[in-house]
Amino acid sequence: MDKFIIKGGFPLKGKLRVNGAKNATLPILAACLLTEGKSHLENVPCLTDIVTMCRVLEELGVKAERENKTVEVDSASLACWETPYDLVKLMRASILVLGPLLARCRRARVSLPGGCNIGARPVDLHLEGLRQLGASIEVRNGYIEARVKKNLQGANVYLDVPSVGATENIMFAATLAKGTTLIKNPSCDPEVIDVANFLKKMGAHIEGEGTDMLRIDGVKELFPASHSVIPDRIEAGTLLMAAVITKGEVILERISPDYLRIILDKLRQMGAEVDVDNYTVRVKGGDVLKPIGVKTLPYPGFSTDLQPQITTVVCLAEGTSTITETIFESRFTHIAGLKKMGAQIRREKAKVEVNGVSSLRRASVTAPDIRGGAALVLAGLAAEGMSEVKEINHVDRGYEKLEEKLSKLGARIERMRD
Ligand code: UD1
Repeated sequence: MDKFIIKGGFPLKGKLRVNGAKNATLPILAACLLTEGKSHLENVPCLTDIVTMCRVLEELGVKAERENKTVEVDSASLACWETPYDLVKLMRASILVLGPLLARCRRARVSLPGGCNIGARPVDLHLEGLRQLGASIEVRNGYIEARVKKNLQGANVYLDVPSVGATENIMFAATLAKGTTLIKNPSCDPEVIDVANFLKKMGAHIEGEGTDMLRIDGVKELFPASHSVIPDRIEAGTLLMAAVITKGEVILERISPDYLRIILDKLRQMGAEVDVDNYTVRVKGGDVLKPIGVKTLPYPGFSTDLQPQITTVVCLAEGTSTITETIFESRFTHIAGLKKMGAQIRREKAKVEVNGVSSLRRASVTAPDIRGGAALVLAGLAAEGMSEVKEINHVDRGYEKLEEKLSKLGARIERMRD
């Protein structure tokens, strides 16, 4: 397994472009199952999670060929409706093949998902939504077994929480269902909008993406399509926080600043200079970091995927900050590493209180999951001396060659075999 060796204390400076969004690419790859033929995807990030999803597709008999940032998915040869535990345990998003398989094959057998160790992550909303579209679903021996007798049937589905994955799975199934499906309280995440845009290019009839109600009028058939994935706002947010915590200045190009509104507001509140142009964001860290309050919420609220990283940044604020996690209550696996580096953090259930310190000290820490690992990398960039972050295979699931991006900005960071 690899590790990062980081010599902290160097302000990051420079311009970068971020990769395509992992959380849009994964469902778009799954959506390719809805048609027969070759779809063409661009701006696909090189991440282990994307490799895993391509393996899931290949296991189903589909060809997924990658060249640099492009992936061609030929789903004419779909031969199977079962996705085994060995693959699904690696990544929760594998569950996103459930809706497309049901729609195209009328049956699916998908292992219950694994993924990051950030707390209970049920799939009841996925299953309930698909049941409302007429599927009969049972969970047996760790597998979801789903069937539909004739056709999926459009229905009104209300989501108790605006789950990203459930919205996508139900939307997939509804594209080929008979009649109209209304998904009330769906996820409004930009990645869900990107997925809807891809489905529309395939011929799906979808309205209301990004609002509190999605309307999908089922069609008989979908067709292969070409699509370029939107930029990754989580990678962008992480790099901007790297600028702030090192008191540097970073410009991100070809990005959608609108999707970063909350994180930019929080960085401004902390004393950073923030300039926004149509497709560019510039952030310059201030000399003094002010404490803030953060509460994670469904989009457009503060993303839970940026919570570990902002927790690192407030460790160096002058005063006490509070971070409340409302999406995944036990998403605090990064705290042990931060404390080892000298952070003063007190956790009570889903809320942490961070008393800012004047500096973090070098340490050897272990990445607990994707974003928790990124949070520890940020701490290493700011700490005095040489730190190591071990088990960065977790980081590689969500960040493409993070060390190369950070090095381009002047960070002293190296990947080594542990
Ligand atoms: C997606 C993202 C992940 C992000 C999360 C929340 C992808 C591939 N992953 O994950 O990076 O952290 O959104 O923004 O897009 N829930 C239920 N029942 C369900 C489904 C979800 O109760 O059937 C709950 C979850 O426990 C959680 C909340 O809904 O509290 C949000 O989860 P969800 O939006 O479904 O997350 P994912 O789609 O798994």
